[in-house]
Amino acid sequence: MVVIGAGIVGLTTAYLLTEAGLSVTVLEARRVGRQVTGRSTAKITSQHSLIYRHLIETFDVETAKRYADANCAGINLIRQWVRELGLDCDFESKHAYAYSTGQSRIADLQFEAEAAAKVGLEAELLDSAPLPFATTGALCFKDQAQFNPAQYLIGLARAAESKGTRIFEETRVIAVDADDGWQIKTARSSVNAKHAVQATNVPIAGPVRYDRTRPRSHIAMAFHIEQEVAIDGMFIGIDEPTHSLRMGRDQDGLLLVVLGAKFNTGHEGDVAQHFVNLENWTRENFQVGDAAWRWVNEDYDTADRMPFVGQEPKAPGLYIATGFNAWGISNGTAAGILIAKQILGEQPDWASVYDPARKASKNFNKGGDSQSLVHSLDEIEAGGGAVMNLGRGKIAVCKGDDGKPHAVSASCTHEGCIVTWNNADRTWDCPCHGSIFATDGSVIHGPAVEPLPSVKLPPNWL
Ligand SMILES: Cc1cc2nc3c(=O)[nH]c(=O)nc-3n(C[C@H](O)[C@H](O)[C@H](O)COP(=O)(O)OP(=O)(O)OC[C@H]3O[C@@H](n4cnc5c(N)ncnc54)[C@H](O)[C@@H]3O)c2cc1C
Ligand code: FES
Repeated sequence: MVVIGAGIVGLTTAYLLTEAGLSVTVLEARRVGRQVTGRSTAKITSQHSLIYRHLIETFDVETAKRYADANCAGINLIRQWVRELGLDCDFESKHAYAYSTGQSRIADLQFEAEAAAKVGLEAELLDSAPLPFATTGALCFKDQAQFNPAQYLIGLARAAESKGTRIFEETRVIAVDADDGWQIKTARSSVNAKHAVQATNVPIAGPVRYDRTRPRSHIAMAFHIEQEVAIDGMFIGIDEPTHSLRMGRDQDGLLLVVLGAKFNTGHEGDVAQHFVNLENWTRENFQVGDAAWRWVNEDYDTADRMPFVGQEPKAPGLYIATGFNAWGISNGTAAGILIAKQILGEQPDWASVYDPARKASKNFNKGGDSQSLVHSLDEIEAGGGAVMNLGRGKIAVCKGDDGKPHAVSASCTHEGCIVTWNNADRTWDCPCHGSIFATDGSVIHGPAVEPLPSVKLPPNWL
């Protein structure tokens, strides 16, 4: 069998199936653990901001309970593997807090505490969160955990390889076709398998269109901080704009990891401004040192806030896992458990919450337009990028720090939407289904599998 993608879903599936005696090949477009999982804040918790009241009101207590059970299964497996496989990934038990800063949301914390109790999760209401700024209340899930997600996946990949999993990095899959099972094609070769798992964060190919999810980006920063003013716990604000907080570490010492504004991928014309806002907010509320790291990460939302995972009903033998709503460490591990069990002919009790065939709003993802249109090359500053007309088409032009322009087609190779310049990451981001391309046109993330073709600029533009 073939697993496409070596993120948390792919490697969990691969390890479980290799352990069960199957022959497993993993094809990874880039490097193990470098994509959404590696860039996540990696709180390992069943506290997904406020969700249980939402699930009870939208569905029923049983559904909410199954969601909790699925995530607890994911968390337990991570704990078990960290211990048994000796995965060196800075794993630490921590309390998780959802906190409010305004009076109007205190009741929501109380409702969530009641909902959590109904699904069998322990949650304690507090008058405030243990943070250095004023909060009006908090809901604490005790003894959750955090880890370094990239190190976890690198360790899991090694453990899987030692059991017999074959992992091929820098191997992008460009097509998945039905052919007496599934034929999985890369640029250089193809492989046939009875089971194919698209663990690519969002399905990239195959016979089933997947547009019931919406891409969402978040900005994140990590600041050096002294132990005396560090925080203890993992925090998520329930007021907008939301902030997510936890501690981390790099080679120079302790870090405060702060997550800030979210926006629909490719719908934001000035991502860099969000970093300015986040740094200002952090310095107003914490005594931090230099901003050591900054990055953007993207995940996919669903209308009902539950992922789609499992065998595609219209494509037997093809499995998908998407729509983690930025809670895919526990959900993603549960997804790996579910897919592995389905391939082995089993089904966990909680499987129905992830049913890919369940009803879903068709208008959830409305797509969007490029936010970067300009009329002339002069409007693009050195180091910047924008979209312009050239002949009948649109081109995506970015300038190097020396001011020299370089162009690729602005039409996303997935379904043709016009990309937006991300002025923080210096990438081309698609406002329709969240494909992200590097300035040379190569695919970084999302459903696109082909690069944006290079465009030769007229000599008088150079
Ligand atoms: C800012 C942010 C913070 C988050 N924080 C948390 C958190 O604290 N707790 C939590 O539970 N969740 C969190 N999440 C969500 C969680 O990180 C993700 O849901 C989860 O990591 C997704 O895992 P994945 O395996 O689906 O994706 P990925 O880790 O992206 O793995 C998919 C892999 O597939 C590969 N791939 C893609 N296309 C191809 C192709 N064509 N051929 C071959 N390989 C391909 C990619 O390169 C990648 O390695 C966060 C998300 C964001 C955006
Ligand atoms: S990601 Fe679908 S059109 Fe660009």
